[in-house]
Amino acid sequence: MLRLLVLLTNLAVLVLSADKFSRDDFPPDFVFGASTSAYQIEGAANQDGRTPSIWDTFAQAGNMHGATGDTACDGYHKYKEDVQLMRDTGLEAYRFSISWSRLLPNGRGTINPKGLQYYNNLINELISHGIQPHVTLHHSDLPQTLEDEYGGWISRKSVKDFEAYADVCFRKFGDRVPYWTTFNEANVFVMGGYDAGNLPPQRCSSPSPYGLNCSRGNSSIEPYLAAHHILLAHASAARLYKNKYQDRQHGFIGINVLAYWFVPLTNSSDDQIAAQRANDFFFGWILDPLVFGEYPDAMKKNVGSRMPIFTTAESNWIKGSFDFLGVNHYSTSYAKDNPSSLKIKKRDFFADMAVEFSTWGLQELLKYIKRVYGNPPVYIHENGERMIRNLTLEDWPRVEYLHAYIGSLLDALRNGSNTKGYFIWSLLDLFELLDGFESGYGLYFVDLDDPDLKRQPKLSAHWYSHFLKRSKGMRLHGLTELGMNLSALSRSHFFQ
Ligand SMILES: *[C@@H]1O[C@H](CO)[C@@H](O)[C@H](O)[C@H]1NC(C)=O
Ligand SMILES: *[C@@H]1O[C@H](CO)[C@@H](O)[C@H](O)[C@H]1NC(C)=O
Ligand SMILES: *[C@@H]1O[C@H](CO)[C@@H](O)[C@H](O)[C@H]1NC(C)=O
Ligand SMILES: *[C@@H]1O[C@H](CO)[C@@H](O)[C@H](O)[C@H]1NC(C)=O
Ligand SMILES: *[C@@H]1O[C@H](CO)[C@@H](O)[C@H](O)[C@H]1NC(C)=O
Ligand SMILES: *[C@@H]1O[C@H](CO)[C@@H](O)[C@H](O)[C@H]1NC(C)=O
Repeated sequence: MLRLLVLLTNLAVLVLSADKFSRDDFPPDFVFGASTSAYQIEGAANQDGRTPSIWDTFAQAGNMHGATGDTACDGYHKYKEDVQLMRDTGLEAYRFSISWSRLLPNGRGTINPKGLQYYNNLINELISHGIQPHVTLHHSDLPQTLEDEYGGWISRKSVKDFEAYADVCFRKFGDRVPYWTTFNEANVFVMGGYDAGNLPPQRCSSPSPYGLNCSRGNSSIEPYLAAHHILLAHASAARLYKNKYQDRQHGFIGINVLAYWFVPLTNSSDDQIAAQRANDFFFGWILDPLVFGEYPDAMKKNVGSRMPIFTTAESNWIKGSFDFLGVNHYSTSYAKDNPSSLKIKKRDFFADMAVEFSTWGLQELLKYIKRVYGNPPVYIHENGERMIRNLTLEDWPRVEYLHAYIGSLLDALRNGSNTKGYFIWSLLDLFELLDGFESGYGLYFVDLDDPDLKRQPKLSAHWYSHFLKRSKGMRLHGLTELGMNLSALSRSHFFQ
């Protein structure tokens, strides 16, 4: 399963669909952008009053083969240069996250003036270049001090602290930030951090079902508990925003999940039910409470008394507590029923699911969100292709991947999907949370051997830029033709 988690985010399926399209085929108020997150781009980890997050602790302990986000892309100092790159590329929006421990070094209370200044500068720089800020509050980087004090998300105390942190962000930045996302990949954060134990805060039963040794944790109960508190924290922040800020600031608030999408391996009814169960466990876990006020039946049934329960008041308060849904999507997978895993004595999240996975299918995700969850507004917050990080700037596979996914998004829109925006993961080659600096998803290469961390555009940056700038004569015909033209362009403009 650990391997699945890695594979699912790494492998790409080419979804061949609308082949000829341009920016103008999308609604004018649809936004195209690119994403990053604080720990992965900022660096300056120990500067200007920032304290460690659980990611700093994890990376510094050597879990990333020595790589850390201490310097990352030095986005903290290079934000003006990066906003200029966004502008040159033609990005309409930029999705980034706030480092909670940079803004509130004690996790709560006193605001760090340098942290406040940095985010004000970044937001102002974006706006002055006509780029819309989309801000995430928690991108896997809980302040270490709160993890130490009460065990972070396994404690209900986290709910109040998150609400107070969100309040500071809305109050200080909300006059300029129209889109707030409370949590990035709430589901994956919990699976990795509390079940498998391969990601911070590295809590799991020891040994975990995946052979890892965590110094603390319990994979049978903590994943469910952490997700429960994250949902309550989301709902508290959303309620606060709606009651206190939305009328004045006119923004929107949502939450983000990684949407794996599972289709049955065979037509057997067991596999069909297994695929549904996999979608319920990965996706419904977070979405069902938001839309229906309850966890999915398939989860309640398999997890039993280990599943936390919402009171009626909590259920009513969580239900509908979002204006949009953020979706990260990289690929699709087949699901096969695996009833034997329910016979395991010490069951964890994945054993409870009782599904075995293999190979890749096609993307039907947006249709599913439309059908099952009432077609809420959706932002594709991350989509992109992992490649080994090296000096190869001609990232053809990434161009083909992005072209295919943007095309299939257009198909979905034409079929009535309520998707409102699309962000490429990622703007730059970042410190990647799965493998540090081994791989990159960036439109721009960041040269780690250069003391100045020079950014260099890849072919994909060039391609995206053409798409966004609606260049005359650049209506996209077949990929081959596109390739010839981009190669010519890249020689003449970019790589001289
Ligand atoms: C996890 O918690 C459950 C329920 O409290 C308990 O039965 C089980 O022994 C715990 N497992 C570990 C590994 O501590
Ligand atoms: C976990 O601990 C056990 C027992 O000490 C050991 O045999 C095993 O190799 C450890 N696993 C890892 C991944 O470190
Ligand atoms: C499932 O059934 C459909 C139509 O009944 C068929 O087209 C498809 O090939 C079948 N799929 C598998 C994996 O057997
Ligand atoms: C860079 O990585 C890609 C795979 O992502 C590979 O095809 C290419 O040969 C590599 N280039 C160099 C210079 O190592
Ligand atoms: C769009 O809808 C049409 C007609 O219902 C259907 O044939 C087609 O497969 C749908 N496309 C997608 C991408 O869902
Ligand atoms: C690509 O270049 C050829 C020759 O320069 C030109 O005829 C064609 O229209 C171009 N295609 C696109 C998509 O711009």
